[in-house]
Amino acid sequence: MLLPDSFLQELKLRCNIEDIVSNYVNLKRQGKTLVATCPFHNEKTPSFYVYPESGSFYCFGCGAGGDVITFIRMIENLDYIESVKFISQKIGLSLPESNYDDSFNKLRLRIYEANRDTAKFYHNMLFSADGKDALDYLYKRGLTYSTIKHFGLGFSPNNRFALVNYLRKKGYTDFEIVQANLAFKGKSGVPFDRFFNRVMFPIIDLRGNVIAFGGRIMGDGKPKYLNTSDTPSFKKNSNLFALNFAKNNCSKRLILSEGYMDVISLHQAGFENSVATLGTSLTQEQVKLISRYSNEVVIAYDSDEAGQKATKRAIELFRGSGVSIKVLTIPKGKDPDEFIRSNGKDGILRFKNLLEQCCNDIEYSLNKLKSQINLDVPEGKVKYLTQACILLSSIDNRFEREIYAHKLSEEIEVQKSSIMLQIEKLIKQREKKSEKKQLKDLQSKIFEDGKKVNPERNKNLRAAHAEEALIAFLMNNPDIYVYIENRLPSSKFLTQFNKMIYEKILKRIKDNKPISLTDLSQDLSIDEISYIAKFLAKYIPSDNLKESVDEYIDIMLYENNKITESEAANTSIDEIRKYIDKLKELKK
Ligand code: GTP
Ligand code: MN
Repeated sequence: MLLPDSFLQELKLRCNIEDIVSNYVNLKRQGKTLVATCPFHNEKTPSFYVYPESGSFYCFGCGAGGDVITFIRMIENLDYIESVKFISQKIGLSLPESNYDDSFNKLRLRIYEANRDTAKFYHNMLFSADGKDALDYLYKRGLTYSTIKHFGLGFSPNNRFALVNYLRKKGYTDFEIVQANLAFKGKSGVPFDRFFNRVMFPIIDLRGNVIAFGGRIMGDGKPKYLNTSDTPSFKKNSNLFALNFAKNNCSKRLILSEGYMDVISLHQAGFENSVATLGTSLTQEQVKLISRYSNEVVIAYDSDEAGQKATKRAIELFRGSGVSIKVLTIPKGKDPDEFIRSNGKDGILRFKNLLEQCCNDIEYSLNKLKSQINLDVPEGKVKYLTQACILLSSIDNRFEREIYAHKLSEEIEVQKSSIMLQIEKLIKQREKKSEKKQLKDLQSKIFEDGKKVNPERNKNLRAAHAEEALIAFLMNNPDIYVYIENRLPSSKFLTQFNKMIYEKILKRIKDNKPISLTDLSQDLSIDEISYIAKFLAKYIPSDNLKESVDEYIDIMLYENNKITESEAANTSIDEIRKYIDKLKELKK
């Protein structure tokens, strides 16, 4: 599973942390170190340091830290091996393929295959005798044969072993079938189908892999829809239904609705730029995905109360994503599918009209606000103005704010300048608040993570400081390890995590292996690496005079004695007597 040391040496040699990091932040040299504003939290004064000598970085603001691989893991959101691949590619180094464990990747591929076979199975079932009711159901809902084919719709038979038996025959193991969430394992250990007697909607990713299924009951039972849970090959929060079709014609605008049936209905009506979430409310990842493919999103949710709430939430998520936001309002509480079908032959044309009339998010929100407030009385006007200013302060573009402030001033008859003043004030307030909050959240997270990494630290602060300073010194001066180890065997460490790191480093030195953060970090978590990066940054080499080493060791020995004494004090006379007796026994 681990990469060979020689490979990491090569990577360290060829890859300069400074070069990699400077692709993401603007580094300024400050003596031996480089400094920038931190890419991991929002700050104005730089507290992000890069130490080329030790190949590490650390942010004194938020506590993020580590080596170059950790940096890529964090900023590109990749796992360890993916980050190594990423860096290797940049510097033209080839990865020793066979040297790491890719069983997880293999499982992912097997799940794709199982899903593909399952989709075919369900699709064939739909056109078999058993699937007659399901096919009728889809026709009754207005879908055509070619739409059913296009979306690869299917039917899961009313038999809890139909799919499992089929997949077993095709050579899939029970483990693979269960991991794909196509079956559950019952108490007896026998897997049975997750979906049965439902109309099936395969969910396909941008590369054409079948990644999941949604299954609808035919009729009124509950749950109405059953969806695949997250699997090694599927995250419902970061995929969208039908984006595989929509991606080719949505660059100008993309229609976002709530349900599979809405999307299928819209595609059939010619709106092939429609997508839907996968049975959950919209997420930040989905917003990012949409912003990658499209300039404008039309939110076409149900016009019932739940749909309106979801619309408000979606608007908030899309703000600041760079995508312009439109809101489509469907009359009479319907969803897009119901609207198109209830209008018969004119359905498509009417929906086109709705699309043309739809307003942007600010207009939508202002209208909604206005409908809830009585503007005939002064209190109502003040309330409207106050709320409207809050809304307008969320607009990024200053000109846009001016335009709405102008409209508002005419509507309510107040000076535009006082509206603008109020908006600017709100913006400043919000910026200050969010910056403070972000930093506070991060710091408490770091504190919590630190506690997780080394839970004994807080109880043994003095010793832990000395332990960490000593480790930092050892990493910078491995040649005097004999002296250090003689005075201080690892048994004298009071915190387990530091002890483990100390032992690891000593062992590597004795084995003649390198001990930079990159060499140590393969089997450590990001939190653990950040923890070490923190004390490496704190005790930089120039601080590590040899005299201080003795001081650290003295502190640790002293703290250790204290513990032993207090343990002795807590021991009862009886126990001590027993202990002495035991010693006597042994002497005999
Ligand atoms: P139809 O009734 O078939 O027209 O479906 P719809 O899309 O209009 O349904 P609805 O607006 O109720 O739900 C929208 C989406 O939410 C669906 O497409 C599903 O993804 C999801 N959903 C609805 N009901 C359930 C449920 O009972 N369980 C889960 N997990 N998801 C559901
Ligand atoms: Mn519907």
